[in-house]
Amino acid sequence: MNRTVVITGTASGFGLESTRLFAARGWNVVATVRKEEHLAVHGDLPDVETLLLDVDDEEAGAAFAERAIARFGGVDALVNNAGYYHMGPVEAASMGQVHDQFQTNVFGLIALTKAFLPHFREQRSGAIVNISSISADQGYPYTAVYAASKAAVAAFSEGLNIELADFGVSVKAIFPGAHATRIFTKIDQAGDIPPDYLPGMQRFFGMQGTGSKPAVTAEAVYEAVTDGKIEKVRYYTGPDGVVIPRVKQILGAEQYWEEFRNASTGNPSPLWTSLVPQGQEPVEFAL
Ligand SMILES: NC(=O)c1ccc[n+]([C@@H]2O[C@H](COP(=O)([O-])OP(=O)(O)OC[C@H]3O[C@@H](n4cnc5c(N)ncnc54)[C@H](OP(=O)(O)O)[C@@H]3O)[C@@H](O)[C@H]2O)c1
Repeated sequence: MNRTVVITGTASGFGLESTRLFAARGWNVVATVRKEEHLAVHGDLPDVETLLLDVDDEEAGAAFAERAIARFGGVDALVNNAGYYHMGPVEAASMGQVHDQFQTNVFGLIALTKAFLPHFREQRSGAIVNISSISADQGYPYTAVYAASKAAVAAFSEGLNIELADFGVSVKAIFPGAHATRIFTKIDQAGDIPPDYLPGMQRFFGMQGTGSKPAVTAEAVYEAVTDGKIEKVRYYTGPDGVVIPRVKQILGAEQYWEEFRNASTGNPSPLWTSLVPQGQEPVEFAL
């Protein structure tokens, strides 16, 4: 029998690419979108059921899990991908924006995971793959709230990995670097930014590359679900995502932080520039 994966946030980006990849490799996919206008986004892909789910709605998670499990007679993997990007200096963010960022990226993810846990525990198998971010490994400026939400996802994944090991259930986290997806066309920006912050923001964002293709991360999601390495939690993707933990290892935590901090204030050292990819292949926001 075909295996079944549930993927959240599949209208674009990693979620859309992952849905296509799993479907192409013979999986049943329960793909979620949060807007009715996106219900037809997967066209006539075979064995893909597209359902509405806003992960902010914690109550809806339990009913959704029941429906997803019933649709193909079980679920083998859950990919918690839905998320968005809040950006701006912390001083300018409202606490409403901070709570909203954590509601989607963290609390919604935890609530949906909880809804599937009894199923995975009882069947003594399953994979849970959470999309974190390379920004979870060290906070990036002007996106500190987003980075904090993704660091929460990383720590949650590690703790849960150990908690579920006795039941044969694996829990993993993906740490993508910058990828050109629609996330950057839907940024939730902090409100009135004091002009004092603008030079620093210009220095930091002026250094960012355009991002790589989301298909790279969909492959990593597939690997995380299928590689059978129950003890492995962290999967880094994209040119910067892959390089950063290696650079950290080579330099050691203290020197890495110094180099990263200098680069983030617009003063990268020649060593940093030689180790970390600066500009990446530009791609259209096509997905
Ligand atoms: N792109 C990057 O560089 C990057 C790097 C590291 C991590 N990530 C993470 O990767 C994940 C996927 O992002 P992406 O880059 O592929 O962006 P994307 O194309 O915007 O996809 C995100 C998906 O999540 C959905 N979503 C947002 N809030 C939701 C909610 N409350 N309930 C249900 N669905 C919701 C979006 O739906 P709508 O279409 O309705 O907005 C969209 O389908 C996110 O968790 C993101 O934080 C991205």
